[in-house]
Amino acid sequence: MDIIERANRSWRIGVLFSQTGVTAGVERTQLQASLLAIEEVNAAGGVLDLPIEPLIYDPGSNPKRFRALADRLLVTDRVRLVFGCYTSSGRKAVLPVVEAHRALLFYPTLYEGFEYSPNCIYTGAAPNQNSVQLARFLLEHYGNRFLLIGSNYVYPYESNRVMTDLVRQNGGRVVNEMYVPMDAERADFERAMKEIRRTSPDVIFSTVVGAATAHFYEAYRAAGFDPVHHPIASLTTSEAEVAEMTPEAAEGHITAAPFFETLGTAAARRFVASYRARFGEGSPVPAAAEAAYFQVHLAAAALARAGTDDPERVRQELRDIEFAAPQGRVRIDPENNHTFLWPRVARLDRHGRFQIVWNPGVRVRPDPYCVQQSLDEWSSDGVGVLAPPGAS
Ligand code: ACM
Repeated sequence: MDIIERANRSWRIGVLFSQTGVTAGVERTQLQASLLAIEEVNAAGGVLDLPIEPLIYDPGSNPKRFRALADRLLVTDRVRLVFGCYTSSGRKAVLPVVEAHRALLFYPTLYEGFEYSPNCIYTGAAPNQNSVQLARFLLEHYGNRFLLIGSNYVYPYESNRVMTDLVRQNGGRVVNEMYVPMDAERADFERAMKEIRRTSPDVIFSTVVGAATAHFYEAYRAAGFDPVHHPIASLTTSEAEVAEMTPEAAEGHITAAPFFETLGTAAARRFVASYRARFGEGSPVPAAAEAAYFQVHLAAAALARAGTDDPERVRQELRDIEFAAPQGRVRIDPENNHTFLWPRVARLDRHGRFQIVWNPGVRVRPDPYCVQQSLDEWSSDGVGVLAPPGAS
């Protein structure tokens, strides 16, 4: 920001989360959590006495719209920092535009890993911060025959590849791998139900995303399968997707994430209470929203230190900042622009609420290229003491 821009008297940032389309349920929570953090920063005096001003567009869960709106933000609106994207297809559509304009994207969603852009800060979990812990928990508690089912796009393909490696390395087997359309309805899961009946897997690993998730879990329940012994396990079934299904369909299923709205720490409780006071009692508050929240606070702290929204300067300042996020203290690893996070595994109870069943108690260094593939040697960064899967 130069002297002339300071005369505009705000820090303008772009915000790109879908309010319509198949992943609107979870992306709306990311939008709201971003706004909550912006309001908190502004209420505390803004950044160097200037407020953050979000420019918000709705990409409609459509990667082409994501790309067009990123272009509009960077070219027409002339912002340099963008906060957004849920699906990996959305992120992959936006990144070339962000890179061409030397801007910076803050991306608050778990994803498949195997990516690095100097123009992206990744604040959701990489596979060594969720897939590894989930695989270990499932292999220990449910068995080693997995059926994989996902939505038909890049994240499920790649996430399933990582899960297949983890299962095979530990003597297990993938009995089948299936895909449904992004906008799958209940009928689209009939073939999956037949395949589950035919193969009797110990576990179903779901990379289904968005509105299709409720159809899948409800079809599983209606088909009479037993989640107590054979759960659906997922990284993308969060509080937001569960809010769209009946509690009966949700009960017994498993998710791994760095944050759950039921986490009992004071910081987590404060965050959930503030979110609900602002956006409605009972609103879902998933890990994707928590990352959207803390990444705004991290960015605001970096902006204050840099005194400019020059993306390169903001990225440099992020190196030295640690933030007390609702999940625990987080920071960015300057080697790969991903975030040190706190993995956890939870099971859905009969009210459709996640109850944490394994809280390893360590902060895990991001390893987006899965250099360390072992289920036992995922690296704590020295913060916390590892608790075994039996402990919660
Ligand atoms: C995702 O597409 N990264 C959930």
